[in-house]
Amino acid sequence: MNSKPIGVFDSGIGGLTVVHALTQRLPHENIVYFGDTARVPYGPKSPQVVREYAAQDVDFLISKDVKMVVIACNTVSAVALDVVQKHAKMPVIGVIVPGAMAAVKATTKKRVGIIGTRATVNSNAYTNAVRQLDGEVQVFAQECPLFVPLAEEGWVDHKVTDAVATEYLFPFKQEKIDTLILGCTHYPILRRAISAALDRAVALIDSGEATGVEVERVLDEKGLRNPSKQRPNLQFYVSDIPAKFAEIGERFLGQRMGRVQKAEGF
Ligand code: DGL
Repeated sequence: MNSKPIGVFDSGIGGLTVVHALTQRLPHENIVYFGDTARVPYGPKSPQVVREYAAQDVDFLISKDVKMVVIACNTVSAVALDVVQKHAKMPVIGVIVPGAMAAVKATTKKRVGIIGTRATVNSNAYTNAVRQLDGEVQVFAQECPLFVPLAEEGWVDHKVTDAVATEYLFPFKQEKIDTLILGCTHYPILRRAISAALDRAVALIDSGEATGVEVERVLDEKGLRNPSKQRPNLQFYVSDIPAKFAEIGERFLGQRMGRVQKAEGF
């Protein structure tokens, strides 16, 4: 049981930032990743559609005999956590609550900003999670849809990305936030530009990293940690164009990626 892989899924490639965080924290866990590259992006879609897709995505991971499911996608975690939990009869971890917990811990002025896709921001999932943890925290949310294609283009150190970040994040300067949740899989890639557009002291919370902490806690609690000290097996499946995923993916994963396979059934 313990050597079974952790299943991780996302709307596409961005979830590899979460896989990166998991491999840093849990270097011996086997992982099966599914990216729904045929239907990405989920961020501009309705909650109903995202919920339908999420059910199919998790069913694919279940067919790979995983021991736990991590929803790397913020949009899915925001609008379809219950759907995934219902399908998977095993521990399911989304990125919202871990990200909110880390932000509440980090904020000293109790002023937290959240950035994410339109669906994530509209769902209020982060706002509700933060305020449930600490009702005194003021939360300010901003959708930043253009960050997704900029990260995928690799425009990390680019004047266009800097200009977009300045435009999107300007309200946070006025709100005087001291903590910002990067509530989308792609945003850790743009950390430098995001940070440059904010006041210097603002702490950036990578919800993928925070999720790694929670995954570790749940593995220990359930006695599910892989005892092997071997190099783990990382498997990657996508619903469309595996070659493109492999090419862009290494930037998100932060390491070389093996073979990427087309997922059967999509
Ligand atoms: N993975 C999505 C998220 O974290 C971003 C890309 C998309 O819109 O599908 O919300």
